Amino acid sequence: MRSPLSLQLAVEIAASGGVLRFDRFMELALYEPRLGYYEKLATNPGRRGDYFTSVSVGPVFGELLAFQFSRRFDDLTSPRSEPLRLVEAGAHDGQLAADILSWIREWRPDLLERMRYTLVEPSPVRLARQRARLADFAGQVDWWSAIQPFSGILFANELLDAFPIRRFGWNRSQRRWFEWGVASHAMEPFFAWAQLPGALDSPVGSLPDAVLNCIPDGFVLEHSHAAEVWWRTAANALNQGWLVTADYGARLDLPLDPDRPEGTLRGYREHRVTRQVLEHPGEQDLTAHVDFHRLRQAGEASGLQTTSLETQERWLNRIFAETTAAADRFAPWTPTRVRQFQTLTHPGHLGRAFSVLVQQRSVESESMIPTSPPIE
Ligand SMILES: C[S@@+](CC[C@H](N)C(=O)[O-])C[C@H]1O[C@@H](n2cnc3c(N)ncnc32)[C@H](O)[C@@H]1O
Repeated sequence: MRSPLSLQLAVEIAASGGVLRFDRFMELALYEPRLGYYEKLATNPGRRGDYFTSVSVGPVFGELLAFQFSRRFDDLTSPRSEPLRLVEAGAHDGQLAADILSWIREWRPDLLERMRYTLVEPSPVRLARQRARLADFAGQVDWWSAIQPFSGILFANELLDAFPIRRFGWNRSQRRWFEWGVASHAMEPFFAWAQLPGALDSPVGSLPDAVLNCIPDGFVLEHSHAAEVWWRTAANALNQGWLVTADYGARLDLPLDPDRPEGTLRGYREHRVTRQVLEHPGEQDLTAHVDFHRLRQAGEASGLQTTSLETQERWLNRIFAETTAAADRFAPWTPTRVRQFQTLTHPGHLGRAFSVLVQQRSVESESMIPTSPPIE
């Protein structure tokens, strides 16, 4: 039997002439009010959910971020009419906000007086969940449905990998790109990949013949225009301070990733990874690697300086070193907390797969990280 979301998708596919662009399929599957995967309150990261994130590893991630961000706040002067803001986007159930605010309350209560924690949350369902989770901090927290101008720090963990992507394929014999869409069938499986009709401009601009000759037939290219637009909007909204995002993705300065000929799009359900992303819309997470190179360019085009783009392992290790040099300002490294730190930084766990991009708009050019900026 078709689920209500599957029926709705079938109607959209029919209305679009039989093949729907994949970014629209993904948008509905994840965000359709009441029916999309992220609209369901039961979908939480962690052991009982579908996937782990750095936040679900335990509070140490939030503590390290809070330590680092509070130091950076000391370098910023509040604009006269508004407080400094720590803005979090993609806050999901509010757990990271709770971890960060708990740390600030314990270790830097002075900061609570001059900052706001702002969650960017377009979904009323998620907002209600976050409000309940953060009831203890009611005076310090507020919400925006979309980004607004601010000074301070914006942080997003695993936000942009959940943005809809377009999916392109290479037809080697015709030497042209085509776009993958989704068609609907009466019987299970209800959805199947189908090529969108019509001519297409190259999604990667023009490439030299020598490169085109090497692209294998069916090579998949993914692109999240939505992620780039979102980052650019955040960059334009930043008056002074930093944008920081952690996610899995490529830091390559290349139009094509030769190591990923099938792309990176995948689904997660009960900790199992699947390439059957068209199955069970609304019941599995859909995600694809973030293109950090394009994000970086988008931020720089909006006047930001790139402070660092490196693995999560290196970024967190640097913060860890700062905590050990300020032992009176950070909780002791108990065995449980060390284990969490190792999961976050070990190359075989989250340390290498995740990267962190930090970009800055400064009044004077002040760096987020005091040592020389690493761009890997
Ligand atoms: C993979 S979850 C990440 C959860 C959390 N940050 C963590 O690390 O555990 C992605 C979250 O981003 C949210 N999201 C998607 N688009 C968004 C947008 N435009 N603004 C804010 N949040 C968004 C989704 O609803 C979902 O809660």
